[in-house]
Order: sequence, then structure tokens, then C-alpha cells
Amino acid sequence: MEVIPLDQPLGARVTGLDFRATPNKKLAAQIREIIHAHQVVIFPNQTFNAKQQLAFTKALGPIRKRALPPDYIVPTSSYETPGIAYVSNIRDENGEPTGVIPDGEMWFHHDTCYTDKPDKFTMLFAISVPKIGGNTIWCNMYQAWESMPEKLKNTIRGRKALNVYDYATIEKPNLDNLENIEKAWQPCIIRHPETGREALFINRLMTCQIEGLTIEESTKILDPIFQHSEQQKFVYEHKWKVNDFVIWDNLAVTHARTHFERTDDRRLRRSKVSGDALVT
Ligand SMILES: [Fe+2]
Repeated sequence: MEVIPLDQPLGARVTGLDFRATPNKKLAAQIREIIHAHQVVIFPNQTFNAKQQLAFTKALGPIRKRALPPDYIVPTSSYETPGIAYVSNIRDENGEPTGVIPDGEMWFHHDTCYTDKPDKFTMLFAISVPKIGGNTIWCNMYQAWESMPEKLKNTIRGRKALNVYDYATIEKPNLDNLENIEKAWQPCIIRHPETGREALFINRLMTCQIEGLTIEESTKILDPIFQHSEQQKFVYEHKWKVNDFVIWDNLAVTHARTHFERTDDRRLRRSKVSGDALVT
């Protein structure tokens, strides 16, 4: 195995591993360590199938079960293997989506931060990639927090924020009616359970309100924090190649997706390791 750190604010490339064989305990622990050290890890040229990806995911930790609202219509071909989902813009013969999230650009977010136990790791395996765009970008939330001006830090230190997500949109949901929308209060700054480092835990797509403030008051505080945290100097942008397998530490980074043409196929196979309640 070779670990090559990227010349970027985060990330490493790891070669010499073949995940058609499930990692043993020792290798799984090593992989977890590499993810915690580099936040995003790229394993190029993997050729494993969905079952093997699931076995790999299980070796790293408990598989994230589906957490979808009861009225969400699941695209039929998205979950052929329980624990595996497809992120895809490809339509079936009836014109129905075959993926779990909408097309197009997607703002920065932490996966499932709108639930009590946000995911620990998210993994994507590239099956089809668009010619242009559809890149995944990650933002280093350790660095975003550490470099934040004290004045800005003081606006959220020790506070909780409300994270919401509406599966029907890739933008913020209508905040006037949050009744039927999944949501959870989370600390604005978390202490990472493995590394012990403090990381910013708010994001543009899902964080909408700070404890004790109205949504309008919160927006005034949150906007400059989003702007600070999304600076290029904290970001790595990955242009996908078929057979790339990428894992990221969902508590240490946010991720987003760049625009791509609807007519250009993009299909990624996703699995996740579930997390625990967060601490400050
Ligand atoms: Fe996501």
C-alpha cells in the first residue's frame, strides 16, 4: 500500500489495495486512520461490485441504514442492494430517476447532519462520469474553524444550530414551514470523536438557524461564516475517473457538487458508515 498526500488542503491517494477482497481488521483500522489523517481518500482503479463494496463498508463500521422520510418516493433502481444507493442522473426507460438525490449543482453540506447521528464516512464509487463538471468538492472544516477570525468564532462558540433537509430540493427548503422536514440541532463546532480536533459543523445547504436567534438574525451570522469556510484555500475539487473509489470523513469536511449537463451520464455507487451523537 502506498499513501500519497495530495498537494491540496486535504486528501490522499492510496494505491496497492484491491477491495474485491474484504480488508481484515488490521487493514480496516489502517484505512480508518488514513481517512482520519487526510479527511478524503481516493483509491483509484477499483473494480469491486456492490456486494464487495458493502462488505468493505461493513469492515470499516456499522452500515448506515436508509434514513428517508416516509413520504419520499424511492427511485426503484436506487437500492438494489440494501445499504447501497446510487447517486445518478440517469433515467430508466419510463423516464424515472434511478438515483437518490436530484441532478445538478449541490451546495456544501455534511451528510445527514439533519439527523441525531450524522454519518461517519461516506463512500462513492464512480461507474459513469460526465465529460464536464459533476466534480465533488470538499472543504476542510478543521482549517475553516482554526482560521476563522475570533469575532466570527464568538458568534457561534458553544451554540447549537438547526440543520434541515428537504429531499425534494438541492437548495435550502422553505424555512416558513419546517413541520414535515427532517431536522436536528447540532453543535456549531464539534470535537471530532477520533482525532480530538475541533471542526466547524455548519453548512450552506442545511444549516438555517442558530439557537436563541430568529432565522433572519441567524442568516446575518451564518452567511459570513459560509463565505469564510468555502474559500478556495480550504477546498479540494475532484474530477472523477471511472473506477475511482473515494471515502471521506463526514465530520471533518463538507462536500458539494459542481454543475453538469443533464444529458451527460453520472452514476456513483454510495455506501456509508453510520455515526454517533456529536459532542462539542
Ligand atoms: Fe451528500
